[in-house]
Amino acid sequence: MRNSSFLLALVLSILHLSSQPSAATRTTLSRGDSLSIDNPDDILISKSGVFSAGFYPVSKSAYCFAIWFSHPPCSSQNCTVVWMANRNEPVNGRYSKLSIKKNGDLVLTDASHTVVWAIDTASLSWSKTPVHQLRLLDSGNLVLLDREGNVPLWQSFNYPTDVLLPGQNLTWNTPLVSSRSNGSFSSGYYKLYFDNDNVLRLLFDGPLISSVYWPDPAYVSWEVGRTNNNYSRVAVLDSMGNFTSSDNLTFLTSDFGKKTQRMLKVDHDGNVRVYSREKDEKWVVTWQGLSESCAVHGICGPNSVCRYSPREGRSCSCPPGYVWNNDTDWTQGCAPKFESFCNPGSDAHVDFLRLPHHDFYGYDKDYTPNTTLASCKKMCADLCNCKGFQYKFNGEKGSFDCFPKIQLLNGYISFSFIGSTYLKLPKANLSSYQIPTKGFDPLPCPPKAQEVVTYLKGHQNSTLEILFIFATALAGVEIVVVFLTWSFLVRTDPDKRGGYAKGYRLAGTGFTRFTYAELKKATRNFNKEIGRGSGGIVYKGVLPDHGEAAVKLLNEENQGEDEFLTEVRTIGNLNHMNLIAMWGYCVEGRHRLLVYEFMNHGSLAENLSSDQLDWKKRYEIAVGSAKGLAYLHEECLEWVLHCDVKPQNILLDSDYQPKVADFGLSKLLNREGLKNTSFSRIRGTRGYMAPEWVYNMPITSKVDVYSYGIVLLEMLTGGNPVAGHTIRGEIKGDNKTFTSWVREKMKPGLPMETWIGEIVDPTVKGPYDIKKMEVLVAVALQCVEEDRDARPTISQVVEMLLRHESEDL
Ligand SMILES: *[C@@H]1O[C@H](CO)[C@@H](O)[C@H](O)[C@H]1NC(C)=O
Ligand SMILES: *[C@@H]1O[C@H](CO)[C@@H](O)[C@H](O)[C@H]1NC(C)=O
Ligand SMILES: *[C@@H]1O[C@H](CO)[C@@H](O)[C@H](O)[C@H]1NC(C)=O
Ligand SMILES: *[C@@H]1O[C@H](CO)[C@@H](O)[C@H](O)[C@H]1NC(C)=O
Ligand SMILES: *[C@@H]1O[C@H](CO)[C@@H](O)[C@H](O)[C@H]1NC(C)=O
Ligand SMILES: *[C@@H]1O[C@H](CO)[C@@H](O)[C@H](O)[C@H]1NC(C)=O
Ligand SMILES: *[C@@H]1O[C@H](CO)[C@@H](O)[C@H](O)[C@H]1NC(C)=O
Ligand SMILES: *[C@@H]1O[C@H](CO)[C@@H](O)[C@H](O)[C@H]1NC(C)=O
Ligand SMILES: *[C@@H]1O[C@H](CO)[C@@H](O)[C@H](O)[C@H]1NC(C)=O
Repeated sequence: MRNSSFLLALVLSILHLSSQPSAATRTTLSRGDSLSIDNPDDILISKSGVFSAGFYPVSKSAYCFAIWFSHPPCSSQNCTVVWMANRNEPVNGRYSKLSIKKNGDLVLTDASHTVVWAIDTASLSWSKTPVHQLRLLDSGNLVLLDREGNVPLWQSFNYPTDVLLPGQNLTWNTPLVSSRSNGSFSSGYYKLYFDNDNVLRLLFDGPLISSVYWPDPAYVSWEVGRTNNNYSRVAVLDSMGNFTSSDNLTFLTSDFGKKTQRMLKVDHDGNVRVYSREKDEKWVVTWQGLSESCAVHGICGPNSVCRYSPREGRSCSCPPGYVWNNDTDWTQGCAPKFESFCNPGSDAHVDFLRLPHHDFYGYDKDYTPNTTLASCKKMCADLCNCKGFQYKFNGEKGSFDCFPKIQLLNGYISFSFIGSTYLKLPKANLSSYQIPTKGFDPLPCPPKAQEVVTYLKGHQNSTLEILFIFATALAGVEIVVVFLTWSFLVRTDPDKRGGYAKGYRLAGTGFTRFTYAELKKATRNFNKEIGRGSGGIVYKGVLPDHGEAAVKLLNEENQGEDEFLTEVRTIGNLNHMNLIAMWGYCVEGRHRLLVYEFMNHGSLAENLSSDQLDWKKRYEIAVGSAKGLAYLHEECLEWVLHCDVKPQNILLDSDYQPKVADFGLSKLLNREGLKNTSFSRIRGTRGYMAPEWVYNMPITSKVDVYSYGIVLLEMLTGGNPVAGHTIRGEIKGDNKTFTSWVREKMKPGLPMETWIGEIVDPTVKGPYDIKKMEVLVAVALQCVEEDRDARPTISQVVEMLLRHESEDL
């Protein structure tokens, strides 16, 4: 009895890698001493207790010697590890040791006394001074010091793993290498390093291919603000959140100036992020390198396509005609379902399927500028190993470019990619290869590539084995408890998710849950109303962390808290430069509030009536708001319809760039949901509403296209579609007559200049480009077609407008 309770205590203490300072813990390790894995108190602690170093479990009975944040206190399941000595070669949970030998060598030995990792002091012999002690500094740097203790003989800062701490130099020979997967600590494939042209880059260095993906390889370094003529190759993040690199990459984190814990990390998903943590809170992302997570290379394997959705995160899918090589591991990519085929000179068997917004980066056979689609098809058909081609409008030249591909790698879908990939497929079966509608057939689960490091070497005697089984069972219980706690927290409160879970929001957009009292104070008791929209009133406020904000107080509807949180979380994850950013929300009792960024120039409606916008700005607003809507319709898998597009809901920032507001408040729909009639409640604003609403027809994304078309006409003509207004005294601006008025003006045979001159708002200052006006009128009229199938999609609108954007007004 006594024996077993002693055993239990021993096991618990082994399991519990407590980092709270205790009498036995130390700040230094002297020559001749060692830290033993068998003694849970054998931990080095920095003076202030912020960092600890010791043996850290990486899986069942496998340990690495590591440094982690230990303030606030953590247990071995949830510590934030910042460095590891032996990340790829863990040691046994018994009899392993870190020692400073009599000769000063620092060695990590396994149960079988094999040296797993060592600092050979002979190699530091330039210093000639003997090692005196090992010390963990408050910066998180583990240093070997001589008796003087001034200059470190060796420091962990010079051998980083995946984290860069404030004050730590990232240099030409100290790259950061990501971990393999979530939950694993061993070396992965993503690397942040100084390239040999002195530019700081992110590289996917996989077993089969390797390629640089950040900064965007489509640009030369100076185009993205990097310089390659500074040879110092050093980058450093300071404790205030100021990052400077010798290649001229500089940034301030979104919480710049605060004294908090920080770290820059190359995450296992291939992005580089700066995290901050205050007091007892979770880590939050305060900067990240890539805003589009699919721009990372090497995610999906050959012939497959990456797609990001705010709700489901990143997923991979096979293009039509292709199937998974291994349907539990998408890094292995896809293979064609069809036999390979090749009949050069005869394109009878070949056809092409257009995949809009699909980009496969690299592996071009060659590049042919100013090509017709037909000749690009011919070129690829004649080339045996051509898998397809990219066909892209070149705005500078005003013509199309053709890029035949011999490999389909680094595939991704991005709405910001204006161009298409044409996939080469056998003609006989083309009709059976459908262009996928809903995100193809994404795998439901993340890649199962997580390896489990288990310790296999060494021997234990039978008592130890029993101990291990016992310990493992207990560890299992602990993990289950941690997991349950975690999932409970996630379910009840989206904020409790850590910085990781927040995923891919841009820097500086930490999503916050506010209290009602905070928002009441921020808006000075809701005293400055700046707008009234569907569902609520918007007030101006000032938040301590963000500055000016718009706070929307929703009407008291009976939306349950869970439903509200689900929708808010989705909206909060939408992230596009032409959508208003949501900073947070409040749900307290009956109160439901949303907090948005504040727009300096108010709404498009206000600006149109006060005549602040010249033709150039109007064109940009047309393009930007179409892009925002296109993101809602197509980039988000769940197809968010706006349903209330009007000038009051298009806000303008300080540069008059538009941001669409008030989206997502209507029920979020998926494509299936669109077909049924559950969405029958009439929404929208008179004058902007598509005929489908009136005739009780199915509601599709084309209702937003219609409203957008009316907004364009309003910007062009200066008329107001809401009944009761007139266009320059000529006609009552009822919705239908408003559009027919424009149609009537466009008499065939009349010179374009004449009818455009009659349509455009004469009060707008400045000259205009007649071609652009023609495009705007044509697009607007297509958008307001009665028949919804005759209207373009909003992404086609973007394409049409962008073709003319670069031409000067
Ligand atoms: C880690 O988990 C322990 C309980 O196991 C908890 O007390 C502590 O607050 C957690 N620390 C962090 C940083 O999450
Ligand atoms: C980082 O580099 C600077 C010089 O570039 C040097 O003064 C400083 O000591 C270095 N920091 C560390 C921790 O090595
Ligand atoms: C950031 O650090 C650099 C280099 O130390 C310095 O030149 C710059 O002024 C700093 N920026 C801010 C805003 O403090
Ligand atoms: C090169 O970069 C270093 C570190 O950022 C900086 O101190 C130095 O002034 C730069 N040299 C030149 C010539 O710009
Ligand atoms: C670095 O960037 C600054 C401002 O972004 C610019 O003024 C400077 O010329 C750049 N330096 C180099 C060497 O490109
Ligand atoms: C699929 O991949 C997993 C993980 O990489 C591997 O264990 C499994 O054997 C593979 N299956 C096939 C059929 O190749
Ligand atoms: C076309 O599809 C059928 C079955 O759907 C298949 O048997 C045939 O092999 C396919 N043809 C080619 C050329 O892949
Ligand atoms: C593209 O080709 C056409 C026909 O060959 C030619 O008329 C046109 O000028 C070319 N455009 C450019 C930008 O080279
Ligand atoms: C990593 O896994 C943990 C728990 O399994 C989860 O909470 C977290 O969201 C994951 N992080 C990422 C980036 O997938």
